[in-house]
Amino acid sequence: MSDVQLGMPRLPAPDYPADVRARLDADAREVISRYPDSRSALLPLLHLVQSEEGHVTRTGVRFCAEQLGLTTAEVTAVATFYTMYRRKPSGDYQVGVCTNTLCAVMGGDAIFDALKEHLRVGNGETTPDGKVTLEHIECNAACDYAPVLMVNWEFFDNQTVESATALVDDLRAGRAVAPTRGAPLCTYKETARILAGFPDERPGAVEAGGGAGPASLAGLRLAKGESAPGRVVAPRAAARPAAEDRPGTGPRPAAGEAPATHPSSHDAPQQTSASDPSNPAGPAAEEGE
Ligand code: FES
Repeated sequence: MSDVQLGMPRLPAPDYPADVRARLDADAREVISRYPDSRSALLPLLHLVQSEEGHVTRTGVRFCAEQLGLTTAEVTAVATFYTMYRRKPSGDYQVGVCTNTLCAVMGGDAIFDALKEHLRVGNGETTPDGKVTLEHIECNAACDYAPVLMVNWEFFDNQTVESATALVDDLRAGRAVAPTRGAPLCTYKETARILAGFPDERPGAVEAGGGAGPASLAGLRLAKGESAPGRVVAPRAAARPAAEDRPGTGPRPAAGEAPATHPSSHDAPQQTSASDPSNPAGPAAEEGE
């Protein structure tokens, strides 16, 4: 039974300490000035308060509501809708294992199960040292690098049980780890500030970019009539039989060498209209033509 049901109205959320409030006020003014309608700034402001406390607290909700002239109910409705906002304290590193369809069948389910056992935490739970929060996540549009892990929303592509276990061990031990592509890794609070719209001023962060990798561009290159570069995923060699031992695949090419018959080490040999004369490419013929 809630306090309200018992006739005891909930106390208002406390405010931030004066120095924190002054700093957040200035940051909020800058964010809000970017939008013609102030309430459009709610999503970045929720990231801003998350950068302060690591999750969206009642104090953070109150702050957003006051800044934007909204009710706390309106702010809470948004904060509880989007999974990128946390509602409880959690770790410095949010390790998300994609268990959506493609990643799941490529090993994501096995990785998630192995990490739960290795870290002794369940979905959404944090290790006792406060370093890692484990959760399963939905597709991050990186299916061509399946199975994918996201650490604070940075990509760790083509993972295996072994590489994912080593990754969380490194994070907990404070050893440096580098995402497969994109900006260098930072803590969850630092990530939240960047998502609030403040520039990532770390050396090399902007230059790192986050453009499409070779696997994502393979189809485009093939469509242009170019040869698509092959991609050999080294960590997978230990977890799967050698390519030459799997049915329907040719010899595994050397690192960096293009496979002879298909553009990705994950792809089966292609059966396309080009290789099937009985099903030519082009629009389907109208009946009676
Ligand atoms: S299914 Fe995992 S990134 Fe798309």
